[in-house]
Amino acid sequence: MSYPYQIKTADQYKTAYEKSVNDPEGFWGEIASTFYWRKKWDKVLEWDFKKPTIKWFGGGKLNITENCIDRHLETLGNKPAIIWESNDPEEHHRVLTYRDLHFKVCQFANVLKNNGVKKGDRVCIYMGMVPELAIAVLACARIGAIHSVVFGGFSAQSIADRLQDAKAEFVVTCDGAFRGNKEIPLKGVIDDALVQCPFVKRVIVLTRTRTAVSMIKGRDVWWEDEIKRVETQGNPECVAEEMDAEDMLFILYTSGSTGKPKGVVHTVGGYMVYTNYSFVNVFQYQPGDVHFCTADIGWITGHSYIVYGPLSAGATSLMFEGVPTWPDAGRFWEIVDKYKVNVLYTAPTAIRSLMGFGLDPLKGRSLDSLKVLGTVGEPINEEAWHWYDEHIGKKKCPIVDTWWQTETGGILISNLAGVTPAKPAHATLPLPGVQPVLVDENGKEITGNSVSGNLCIKFPWPGILRTTYGDHERCRLNYFATYENLYFTGDGCLRDEVGNYRITGRVDDVLNVSGHRIGTAEVENAINMHAGVVESAVVGYPHDIKGQGIYCFVIYQGAHGDDENLARKDITQTVARIIGAIAKPDKIQFVSGLPKTRSGKIMRRILRKIAEGEVDKLGDTSTLLDPGVVDEIAKGRL
Ligand code: WT7
Repeated sequence: MSYPYQIKTADQYKTAYEKSVNDPEGFWGEIASTFYWRKKWDKVLEWDFKKPTIKWFGGGKLNITENCIDRHLETLGNKPAIIWESNDPEEHHRVLTYRDLHFKVCQFANVLKNNGVKKGDRVCIYMGMVPELAIAVLACARIGAIHSVVFGGFSAQSIADRLQDAKAEFVVTCDGAFRGNKEIPLKGVIDDALVQCPFVKRVIVLTRTRTAVSMIKGRDVWWEDEIKRVETQGNPECVAEEMDAEDMLFILYTSGSTGKPKGVVHTVGGYMVYTNYSFVNVFQYQPGDVHFCTADIGWITGHSYIVYGPLSAGATSLMFEGVPTWPDAGRFWEIVDKYKVNVLYTAPTAIRSLMGFGLDPLKGRSLDSLKVLGTVGEPINEEAWHWYDEHIGKKKCPIVDTWWQTETGGILISNLAGVTPAKPAHATLPLPGVQPVLVDENGKEITGNSVSGNLCIKFPWPGILRTTYGDHERCRLNYFATYENLYFTGDGCLRDEVGNYRITGRVDDVLNVSGHRIGTAEVENAINMHAGVVESAVVGYPHDIKGQGIYCFVIYQGAHGDDENLARKDITQTVARIIGAIAKPDKIQFVSGLPKTRSGKIMRRILRKIAEGEVDKLGDTSTLLDPGVVDEIAKGRL
């Protein structure tokens, strides 16, 4: 494959950027022309942020899997598409060439069809990081079914909410998943979720852990049996469904400032072009490179930079089932050397946690194959940046600090590895096609350099979300109504003296815990479900490893009240049941009241300051209903 749109110099970046602004349709049309379309589009772009409607490559017909797999078969058929490293380093790894991947995706696509899945149906995928997860995702895309992957750390209740919201009648899961020294009973969790979802017609279960599972007659079938059925049917091919560029590709749920996660919708054509373009340019992909993105496919990072971006470029994507610290904190480095990884893309929280183990885990590891390092998910602190640069990149690998979101589909602001300059803790410059603006509270654009404001984007790029599933008005209100004619990101941002962007974090009630987005309202709802809880307020606070920790102020009158630690554990259990282990509180402080205004609104600003330990900077508390409560809370700070 060749990538005529790959930017190789800083000058080329400038030229590409200018063209993308002056002639966006010409710019993206040329890039899109390098893909395989069954029928060319009628119009590159139609948009109106007011509604919002955004259509890229409207009228174009294609299937994303023909671009991710079939078009590579002739030249790259025997090249590894996916290398899989299992949780247990002693277990044999697996390599799937593009030809293998084609065979397996077609096979499983036929399994889906045999089980009644049709174009437009929603399929919920709840699996560990095994190659079959990528296969299931691509098989859905092959037949035009809409996948909705749910991360293995979410609870039965969270899955049920998502299944109901997406009206998904099909589930693909595993008996269990291995993660470090833990075994997660995925099918058991699904069974609990399905009590609330009688509309689910079929559950396909892959064997991974050989845990005992209940299989319900008429509803649950084994992946392996269904593959055998396809084999006896004789035809391994599955002709790809012809999709419109604007047909839905997937739904991915993410947290916002309300209690209920929203189903972000991405469509086939624009998402394909954008993930490919950003992959090839940000990481400066070279044919033969091994790309190791350490995210889980349950998050957007895995969708875009384990599956669709790398595969559409014909790259080799490394998929890792386990965790960075098991069996020891040298696991990433062992993997890098074992597979001669060229690009390592991970999160600041992982870097900080590995820093904590010192340099011992690096002993005997050469890391010579590395060319590019990437970071994503949250602002990276300078200390972690320099550690990554010195000890992992040996000062010879550019670090790309990639800012983006579930809603953006792909990376929007980042340096291009080795092409445009990096600056520690700065995402630096927008990719071509991306037009960031900073605005003040009133939505007035803040121009010039050395300024800060709320980050918005004023022009669509192909990977932008199209709607939130089943509720378009919610999409409008969330992203397009705060500031007129702008997409609002929810992030605060600085622009330095030469125009580099530095993301400072969320300005809404959304936390970023270990690179995972969690709404404070969501956690409050879960805490309030606990029988003994009268009221609660949740805020974030700086956490050395997680970036942000979850700090909960709780008015409690329930059982175990005489044993605060036990009551805390009860509440934690409740949150794990309602949302999942990823949302477990870090600190729970019992209080007798919460600081409220006379109109009854909780003053989060004050609670945030207390949680952050800035008790002397509480500001004006005179408008509070009961200013006394603030002293009590500040004194009781954990
Ligand atoms: C939020 C999006 C998209 C990948 C994973 C997270 C924060 C993401 C950076 C970065 C500073 C970052 C933002 C953003 N974020 N990347 N390089 N520097 N902050 O996806 O769960 O949709 O969260 O993550 O706050 O809004 P997500």
